[in-house]
Amino acid sequence: MAMQEPQSQAAPAGLTDSQWQAITELTCHEETRIPTDEANRPSDVYLSQARFDEEMKDIFTSLPMVATMSSYLPEPGMALAIECSGVPVLVTRDREGQARCFINACRHRGSKLVESDEPVKSARLSCPYHAWTYGMNGDLIGVPRQETFPSLKKCDLGLVALSTHESGGYIWVCLDPEKSPSMVEGSAQICADLEAFGLHKMHVYGRRRYDLKANWKLVVEPFLEPYHIQRLHANSIAKMFVDAPNVIRMLGPHQRQCSGKANFDPAILQGNIDNLHKYITHAYLVFPNTVVVTSPYYISVMVLLPTATDRTVVDYYMMVKSAPDNPKADDLYARSYQLIDEVFGGEDFRAAQLQQEGLSSGAIERVFFGGLEEMIGPFHEAVESFLTADPVPC
Ligand code: FES
Ligand SMILES: [Fe+2]
Repeated sequence: MAMQEPQSQAAPAGLTDSQWQAITELTCHEETRIPTDEANRPSDVYLSQARFDEEMKDIFTSLPMVATMSSYLPEPGMALAIECSGVPVLVTRDREGQARCFINACRHRGSKLVESDEPVKSARLSCPYHAWTYGMNGDLIGVPRQETFPSLKKCDLGLVALSTHESGGYIWVCLDPEKSPSMVEGSAQICADLEAFGLHKMHVYGRRRYDLKANWKLVVEPFLEPYHIQRLHANSIAKMFVDAPNVIRMLGPHQRQCSGKANFDPAILQGNIDNLHKYITHAYLVFPNTVVVTSPYYISVMVLLPTATDRTVVDYYMMVKSAPDNPKADDLYARSYQLIDEVFGGEDFRAAQLQQEGLSSGAIERVFFGGLEEMIGPFHEAVESFLTADPVPC
């Protein structure tokens, strides 16, 4: 079960006190506890349209959610289109370098302004239909044949702004233009953890988009449990890990997991460690829609953009310290990028889709989580805690 945050103690450089505290709780593999916390949920939490609508209303359009990585728009004058649950979002970095989000719709007759889901760089954004033009700060700055709109005031027709926040290496957005929510509890710690890893300064080596036929929670769940690693990943990465529980912490609705890899022994913490990520894996759920997994030479970030009850777009980002500047680094990153596609894409995401297909039969009433899946129950509790009505009885 998730434990309370204990008294912190001094951490080595590159870790928060809270991360270091969790690391010092890792035992040698022979002494790991046998986790026995069980939970279960009705399959309808993944299948019901009413439930999906509630999640979109009370979570995805009411709370800050991650839109993209800060370093995917590294320079002023960049813009990117994303879409979540039918809401077209335009993410920009204005001339002053400030991240901003808008509804991606022209104020003339509503055309989508930017189509590309790859970053574009430009001083201004011009609508493809009649060329109304906007600054990266959302101001309407140009209207062709403006004399034909005698009543138009440009200052009234800027892009519809969305509440935007930048921290932890992310640009966060709230999809409802009427709302300006505070970051949820635990966000300061989770952003501090990720900044301790340097995520906000890292380089996007690659981004790959997956369009998955699976409910968003089914896509999150494999990253909350070690149970599947020796099974689903038996022929890929299983040998690097052990069949043991993680040290886990709820940070508000967010989650942090820390696990010793097969080569981990607590004795190594006494000495100088050149690269902690060789021995310890960190995995985070950045609530509600982002998963982070550390590897020795890169960090994987998956931003989930639900599009329907049974459909989720995942933007996978491979984050590295800096752009490769030699053939050895180039080769290492290229092989890692390929491996990630095989393991996350070919195994974890495939499992989520297989689960969706099986559950869609309607014949499986409930799903069950055992001790090695002990963080899935708290994940569902966190989701449920934000729902104002629960159409699916638990
Ligand atoms: S709809 Fe954008 S300029 Fe007409
Ligand atoms: Fe996995």
